[in-house]
Amino acid sequence: MTVLVRLIYASKVAAHFGPMDMHDILDKSRRNNIEAGISGLLILADGYFFQALEGDRSAVHATYARILKDSRHSSSVMLSSLEIEKRLFSGWSMGYVLSSEKNKPLFMSYSSNKYFAPLSLRAQAAESLLAEIGAHARHLGGTETAT
Ligand SMILES: Cc1cc2nc3c(=O)[nH]c(=O)nc-3n(C[C@H](O)[C@H](O)[C@H](O)COP(=O)(O)O)c2cc1C
Repeated sequence: MTVLVRLIYASKVAAHFGPMDMHDILDKSRRNNIEAGISGLLILADGYFFQALEGDRSAVHATYARILKDSRHSSSVMLSSLEIEKRLFSGWSMGYVLSSEKNKPLFMSYSSNKYFAPLSLRAQAAESLLAEIGAHARHLGGTETAT
């Protein structure tokens, strides 16, 4: 039986992380996620990744297990893992949103201090932030790198 889920996690970007790493991650994500029926959104903000993976439960967890081993980030915390009726990001094999002056207020509205601190977000807040950023990105006509 297949069950549709959405997993959200946050992690710290590695000190050695560079633009080519992002290019490689998006490239691999696009290829692997289409194959695995996974959709989602990856956010890079203030030195943190914040990512949603949605799809079949076993495919999502297998992908997350692979991502956990990646040295381009650390301190990953699973913020939420929910059975869902519907995807938020269908059609996006991995949308990408970079924090900018335009969307910074949105990130900050979920923060208790002046920095975006996704590792300590509650599940409900993680879900809300994700939905808001997704809607915002759609409004702007897509994500930084199209699916
Ligand atoms: C923050 C972050 C997000 C990633 N997201 C994905 C993803 O959504 N899908 C994926 O296949 N790989 C993702 N990766 C890359 C994996 O860790 C891994 O390098 C890749 O899946 C290996 O693919 P390959 O076996 O085809 O070479 C991500 C890595 C990082 C650091």
